[in-house]
Amino acid sequence: MHIAVQQADPWQTATPLLVVCSWQAQALPEAVLSLVEFGDFSGKKDESVLLYPRGTLPCRRLLLLGMGEYDLTNADTLRRSAARAMRRARALKVDDFTLLLPMNERVSFTDAAQVTAEGLELGAYRYLEHKSTLKPEEQQRIEHMTLLVEHPITSAEVQASVASGQAIARGVMRARNLANAPGNVLTPTRLGEVAQEIGAQGGIATTVLGLDDLKAQGFGGLLAVGQGSAEPPCFIIMEYGQPGPDRPTICLVGKGITFDTGGVSMKAAANMDDMKMDMGGAAAVLGTMQAVAELGLPLHVVALISAAENMVSGRAYKPGDIITTLSGKTIEVLNTDAEGRIVLADALYYAQRYQPAALIDVATLTGAIIVALGKHAMGLMSNHQPLAERLLRAGEASADRAWQLPLWDAYREEMKSKIADLRNITGTRYAGSITAAAFLENFVGNAAWAHLDIAGVAWVEEPTRDDQVRGATGAGVRLLLQALHDWQAASEQ
Ligand code: BES
Ligand code: ZN
Ligand code: ZN
Repeated sequence: MHIAVQQADPWQTATPLLVVCSWQAQALPEAVLSLVEFGDFSGKKDESVLLYPRGTLPCRRLLLLGMGEYDLTNADTLRRSAARAMRRARALKVDDFTLLLPMNERVSFTDAAQVTAEGLELGAYRYLEHKSTLKPEEQQRIEHMTLLVEHPITSAEVQASVASGQAIARGVMRARNLANAPGNVLTPTRLGEVAQEIGAQGGIATTVLGLDDLKAQGFGGLLAVGQGSAEPPCFIIMEYGQPGPDRPTICLVGKGITFDTGGVSMKAAANMDDMKMDMGGAAAVLGTMQAVAELGLPLHVVALISAAENMVSGRAYKPGDIITTLSGKTIEVLNTDAEGRIVLADALYYAQRYQPAALIDVATLTGAIIVALGKHAMGLMSNHQPLAERLLRAGEASADRAWQLPLWDAYREEMKSKIADLRNITGTRYAGSITAAAFLENFVGNAAWAHLDIAGVAWVEEPTRDDQVRGATGAGVRLLLQALHDWQAASEQ
């Protein structure tokens, strides 16, 4: 979508639809004042009024959106209302509209422009890839809109923030498209091809290791999980930028299980189809890489993705199997459904060769994280508190929230096996997300590492935000981009 930035008086602007976000007790212009005086609109949250002000204002339609209390507004309020504006505009079947950039002292001009652009793009998102015919309302698309700024500010700055917001949203939408794609379409091989496409577009050096490479190099974890499938596993390596004195290396690792049947320890039939999203971590990493390149962040970012399909067959790995991972450490497999940690073991170990300043993995790893945090925050576990806090802050700032859980020695003990170095599950269901993280930690060496368990937030059945629809959310992309942005700002100081 093209977003034009213009400085003008909204009440003098001719447009098919003018959307104005209004806070409680905020003054509105004379033309619509009776609305407030009669008590029909007060700017409360979720309130809205559509007017047809023929003869009084140059706009054909005027939509007032209630924003709630001024003092409770933050960047995410603006992101959500922009998404709401986009949806209302689309439902009104206009092909162009104007939104007055809402200004609030609590959010800077540039942040407001960025999150508004994010909301506009994400509010328009739908996944219609596999519909052979589209209903008229599904065909409705807004290709162009105008963001009005009232105050004389440098519109170049606003324009740049809008462009950043759009790049971030495209990263989120890339992740959504990947996680929404069905398992028969998005195989590990196809995931590798998409990485190559993103790499070619963004000037990111991309390599995909195929079955023979994995065997030659000893990716025992990834090979074991992938061996039951007719679709071969692969390992994706993307390298953006070069390391340097002011350019710390950040490694992003993604779980790319393109479908998780659970393997021989098979999952129940109900909702098993949702397990096409078990590459949500890989999707978040790929969406982030795409946006990092579009934004041109001056960092060295390496993405590593273990991609496989967890299937059942005569060749599948089994409970009781002992496998030797890339690191040389052995794992006793006690449940083939705890496969994510096994493929991540190889990727985390591989990451050590880059000597990263931070190693961050993103994975739809455990159902237990949904029990712990529900659908409103991802779980964060780390061996390095400054890194954990950096990510928690980035999550708050980008409304892509994370909440930290502890990693204590007692949990580490639970992952030890009697007959191998590690076992892939404990004997209980207690603290399932933490014990999974304690398992992963064995493969990170002395890197500063953080693990993001996005199993709860990567997918929504019943969206509660206007910038989400049923299906994949692209969780993790905004948090990672915010963290990388802050990193760059800090290393430039
Ligand atoms: N992919 C699942 C985790 C998951 C659950 C993702 C729900 C998204 C939504 C993972 O591979 C898994 O099956 N984990 C097991 C681990 C258990 C066997 C220790 C789980 O969470 O039940
Ligand atoms: Zn599983
Ligand atoms: Zn899984």
